[in-house]
Amino acid sequence: MSLSLHSSELIATAKALATPGKGILAVDESTKTIGKRLGSINVENTEANRKAYRGMLFTSAGLGDYISGAILYEETLFQNHADGESMVDKLKKLGIIAGIKVDMGLRPLPGAHPIETLCTGLDGLVERAADYYAQGARFAKWRAVLQITADGCPSELSIRENAWGLARYARSVQESGLVPIIEPEILMDGSHPIEQTAHVQERVIKEVYIACQRNGVLLEGTLLKPSMTVQGADCSAKPDPKTVASMTVRTLERSVPASVPGIVFLSGGLSEEAASIYLNLMNTIERKASWNLGFSYGRALQHSCLKAWGGSDTAAGQKALMARAQANSEASMGRYVPGSQPSSDEQLFVAGYTY
Ligand code: 13P
Repeated sequence: MSLSLHSSELIATAKALATPGKGILAVDESTKTIGKRLGSINVENTEANRKAYRGMLFTSAGLGDYISGAILYEETLFQNHADGESMVDKLKKLGIIAGIKVDMGLRPLPGAHPIETLCTGLDGLVERAADYYAQGARFAKWRAVLQITADGCPSELSIRENAWGLARYARSVQESGLVPIIEPEILMDGSHPIEQTAHVQERVIKEVYIACQRNGVLLEGTLLKPSMTVQGADCSAKPDPKTVASMTVRTLERSVPASVPGIVFLSGGLSEEAASIYLNLMNTIERKASWNLGFSYGRALQHSCLKAWGGSDTAAGQKALMARAQANSEASMGRYVPGSQPSSDEQLFVAGYTY
């Protein structure tokens, strides 16, 4: 198989996902993780309840004005809404492209520090991606995780392994027509200062693109999903939002090729309001490369929505989702007025978070 079969479609899909003013809704929580979310509102983790919650999200009128794509967990990609229509068709009707989480989770990385991991799921990935494409998915996500510690993490081994895994994944799903979202998350766990995050993140992202080069990844048909360049959650020095925005842009300018069409941030435990404010500030800074700077938030788009829905209130859930989707759409164009939409300031950071 050769990429030339798919290259124009990959480029078009990546461009559509990176449409200015639109971002990605990450709804790909594993069954275990969505169980924790539903548990927080006293809703049981059954297939019917997962379907009801996600079906509520995917029938929010006008969501496609702010959201270009939604990342699904495998169960949802093959699921029908309670009214019988497929979830993929519900999204299509809103003008939203369906995506799929394709990694199979993290495992300890032999030979590295005990907390370091590799991301699994490469075996048979080209074939799996072809099945997802047939089901209507047009993009994919793979989340590799790195952590900064006082005793030397991330190790060279972890950086190389995770960069290589991301690049192999990216090339594999491109073979089957899916745009890879390349996600090297640097966790917020730790007490390191923002300068250290910037240093590590530059190194990690550069290694990712070296690995992409070696694997023949078509960069124009990819998106990058990084964490923002923030200090460790336990660091006593708290830089102001402008510093976070300028350090993040500097890190990306130093490491991301200009041919990548879009950079879509994860929220990583930032509060809903902080995730919007940082993104907005980044979009007010004059930049050297023209990649679109947008969002691919999970918690920062769903936190208030989940609470407002509470297991049954469709209208309240959809209203809360639309508020955050609009706020982040505005932020991705540098036009967000903080506080102009209802949001939560609650820190969503959880130490040792698993997705
Ligand atoms: P958060 O925005 O909650 O970090 O989730 C985004 C995501 O997809 C993580 O893989």
